[in-house]
Amino acid sequence: MMNGEEGVAVRKSIELLVALGSVFGAEKLVPVESAHISGVSYKNLGEAGTEWLEEQATTGAKCRIRATLNPAGMDMDKWKEMGVPEEFAIGQRRVLDAFESMGVEPTCTCTPYLIGHVPRRGTQVAWAESNAVCFVNSVLAARTNRESGPTTLASAVTGVAALYGYRLPENRKPAKIIQVEADLNSRLDYSGLGYVTGKLLGSAVPYFRGLGDLDMESMKTMGAACATSGSIALWHGEGITPEAEWAAGYLEGIETITITKEDIKEAKTKIVSDPDNPTYCIGCPHCSLKEMEETANLVKGKSLDGKLWVFTSRGVYDQAEKGGLIKIIEDAGGRVYRDTCMVVAPLHEMGWKGVGTNSFKGGHYSTAHGFETKLQTVESLVKEAAK
Ligand code: F3S
Repeated sequence: MMNGEEGVAVRKSIELLVALGSVFGAEKLVPVESAHISGVSYKNLGEAGTEWLEEQATTGAKCRIRATLNPAGMDMDKWKEMGVPEEFAIGQRRVLDAFESMGVEPTCTCTPYLIGHVPRRGTQVAWAESNAVCFVNSVLAARTNRESGPTTLASAVTGVAALYGYRLPENRKPAKIIQVEADLNSRLDYSGLGYVTGKLLGSAVPYFRGLGDLDMESMKTMGAACATSGSIALWHGEGITPEAEWAAGYLEGIETITITKEDIKEAKTKIVSDPDNPTYCIGCPHCSLKEMEETANLVKGKSLDGKLWVFTSRGVYDQAEKGGLIKIIEDAGGRVYRDTCMVVAPLHEMGWKGVGTNSFKGGHYSTAHGFETKLQTVESLVKEAAK
């Protein structure tokens, strides 16, 4: 590959991975079984990023392993209804065309693990998108670093990644014990716990005690928040995650930090303001089928007048449609979009004034992007949207 025998794109990809490995002191490259590629929204890529992708495609880049794609900046079919400008839509279409011509599956979701991209425990993968990284490392116990768009594409094209970081067992040991002293009653609470943890720990690996009985949806939102306020890529949950028992062998002598409900409340006040007329969003990370069902049950008989937006993957959308859930949400005046989300869509150009969300990750970014933001449970989002 380095000699260019497999073409320019492969040579450039392997050069990138070798350079990265050298920086981090990797001894070798290892095969990876799959890739999840970020950097898909035209909002983030712009013209320069799009041209770079097109160059990769035209110089022979082709995926040799399974590769899925993170959200784009719009629903690829319903972008007009979303209010996305045409110029943006043209750019976004070019991005998807480039990825598809390289053999990337146009899944456009940050929860590929909900639509059948589920790496086995202990396998090496190259995933980007911080919530997906946290989920694949922690809940599935596969191994990846926090990759970027270019490095995941390079791994997809070459089938390898440099062996360092979370790919090695020694870097998967817990660094701090997080003792949870709070009743966690909603996914918003779990999201808040993740957010506080990330702020306190930076990139260190937490070992949670006292997480309670959390469902998969709470794990996904907690991991997303951990990876937003900090750069956590892996967490262990006592009695919950697959590597927790192994991790428990390394707890002796490490510091314990207690997190209370007050800590979560305080973190919330730093994000929240009081927007007039916000758009209420569910689906950061993208909704699971269970969340679609819950939303449909909550909105039945309400009048949402286009104020509630639900984001999910095409895979989950199709299942929800078969089950009649999309119709229920849309009949109540809610909107359901695929391929995109409340952070990577061009919200300013779409005329949004403020954002309501049940996700600390979503709230963090909407504040960072200049929107006044509400953080609420899904029940209260629906209630307000229906006022
Ligand atoms: Fe996913 Fe967008 Fe949130 S990519 S985790 S829905 S910011």
